[in-house]
Order: sequence, then structure tokens, then C-alpha cells
Amino acid sequence: MTAIRRFSSLALAAAIGLALPTIALAQGAPAGEPAAAATDAAPAKKEKHPGEKLYLRKTCIACHGKGGVLSIQDYPNVAGQQEKYMLRQIADILEGKRVGSPDATGNPRAEGMKGALVTPTGERRITDDEIKEIVSWLASLAPASPKAPETPIDPARLAQGADDYKKGKCQTCHGVDGKKPTSPLYPFIAGQKASYITTQIKDMRDGLRNNGSSKLMLPFIKKLDDETIGRIADYLSQVDRNQP
Ligand code: HEC
Ligand code: HEC
Repeated sequence: MTAIRRFSSLALAAAIGLALPTIALAQGAPAGEPAAAATDAAPAKKEKHPGEKLYLRKTCIACHGKGGVLSIQDYPNVAGQQEKYMLRQIADILEGKRVGSPDATGNPRAEGMKGALVTPTGERRITDDEIKEIVSWLASLAPASPKAPETPIDPARLAQGADDYKKGKCQTCHGVDGKKPTSPLYPFIAGQKASYITTQIKDMRDGLRNNGSSKLMLPFIKKLDDETIGRIADYLSQVDRNQP
């Protein structure tokens, strides 16, 4: 009986941790076992950050994924990004100041996000305070560690990309390996998705993304060809911000 009881509280703890439906509990619980006995051993449920609740409610999760990281599409990872940088970008997107090249649906990039958060007649579906809550939560999250790409990247290409990054003086503003921006308004770029990095640099180089402080970057990227941008993006996408 003791063994069974131990098993059932373990199953309960696991189920709560994984947020499984209560049905799973019922199967493991022996008949006649009082529910209260098992609950005592269960860990207290952690209260969600208000920003996390809003992140779900305001549909950010649909495009930026659970915990601010989404592996599909070229949408940016936002977990662990700079707080001030994010506030400015979100404001620019909602005001239509940040657009970019057309995405797969033919709309300018960021149009979908604006559409989710601003009505066609220009009314906000989200307040500034709600944005601040979400951003403070996102900034507090650990950044994503790099995913091994589907086709492995040749180490020589990664080394070349690291070299291009240094020669391009990108570290002046984004820090060594893109891990330490030199202003709260400059983004972390290490560990970001390669496809996203590529589009953003090209869009900024070609004048399609010209919001915020992107002008500062122009002198450093205006001469970069697509091949070099691709190498830098591959390299940055494999830098792990969770490693010192
Ligand atoms: C319909 C999809 C969609 C929704 C919903 C959405 N976003 Fe976005 N978001 C995007 C895309 C796509 C971009 C990048 C736009 C570009 O490429 O210029 C972006 C950009 C951003 C950026 C800038 C990231 C960077 O590195 O520059 C932040 C921060 C952000 N979103 C936060 C949010 C938050 C917070 C919410 C919810 C309140 C939200 N987004 C809802 C699609 C979405
Ligand atoms: C003088 C400072 C400066 C230098 C040098 C610089 N950047 Fe930037 N970079 C910025 C700023 C500022 C932004 C954000 C622009 C904005 O406010 O919208 C940015 C944005 C980016 C972004 C988009 C990130 C995102 O989340 O959307 C990428 C990618 C990037 N830089 C890569 C590079 C690379 C690669 C180099 C070197 C070739 C470089 N930058 C050099 C200042 C700089």
C-alpha cells in the first residue's frame, strides 16, 4: 500500500508539473485513496507573472511561441531580449514605423503583429501598461540556446562568419559575439534565428527597415553582400548566450 501511495503522489507531482489533464491522475490513483493525502505532498503551484498571462491573452504566443521562443518561421525570438529595445520596437510596429520587406503572405513584415494588436480603425487592443508588463517578463527569461540546424553548418563557414562579424566592427554596438549590447536600445543578436537575422540586415541595408536607431548601423552594413550577411547570420545563430 505504501508503495502504491508513493507512486500516486509521484504521478500527481509529475502531472501537475506537466499540466496534464486531471484524467491522467484518476487512472493512477488507487480506489478509496483520499485526494487530500496526495495533495499534501504536491508542490505548491507557482503563480504566473502578470506579463506571462498577458502574453497568452494578447496572442503574442501565437507568433513568438511558448516562453518567447518559436522554432518555426523567421519570427524573432524575444526571450531575454533587452527591455528598452523591445519597448521601442513594439511601439514602432504598432505605429507602423517598422515595416520591412514583404513576408510569405505578401504583407510587409510586422504587419501581422500590428493587425493582431491594432484594429483596422486604429484602436489599440493593448495598453502601454500591458506592453510594459509583458516586456518586463520577456526580458527576465533565459534566452534560447541554439538549435542544431537541419543541415549542419560547415565549421569553416562558422569561423569565416565570426571573422566577418569582427571585420564588420559589429561588436562596437552588439558586443563580442553579439552577446553584450553597448546600449539598452541595441539588441542582443547572439542565438537569434539565422533567417530572421538575414532578413533584418538586408532590410536595414536596403532601407526597408528604417525605424529607431537603425540609421546607426547603415555605415557598417551598406557594403555587405548577401553572401557575407548569410555567413554572419549562420555564425550568430549558433552562439549560445547561456554559455559564458
Ligand atoms: C501575427 C504574428 C505576431 C503577433 C501576434 C505578435 N508578433 Fe511580435 N513580431 C512578429 C514579427 C513577424 C516580428 C518581426 C517583424 C519584422 O520582421 O520586421 C515581430 C517583432 C516583435 C518584436 C521585436 C523583436 C526584435 O528583435 O526586433 C517584439 C519585441 C515583439 N514582436 C513582441 C511581441 C509581443 C509582446 C506581442 C504581443 C503583445 C507580439 N509581438 C505579437 C509577429 C507577431
Ligand atoms: C553603431 C552601432 C551598430 C553597429 C556597429 C552595428 N549595429 Fe546592428 N543594430 C544597431 C541598432 C541600434 C539596432 C536596432 C535598430 C533599431 O532601433 O531599430 C541594430 C539591429 C541589428 C539587428 C536586428 C536585430 C533584431 O532583433 O531585429 C541585427 C541582426 C544587427 N543589428 C546585426 C548587426 C551586424 C551583423 C553588424 C555588423 C556588420 C551590426 N549590426 C553593426 C546598432 C549597430
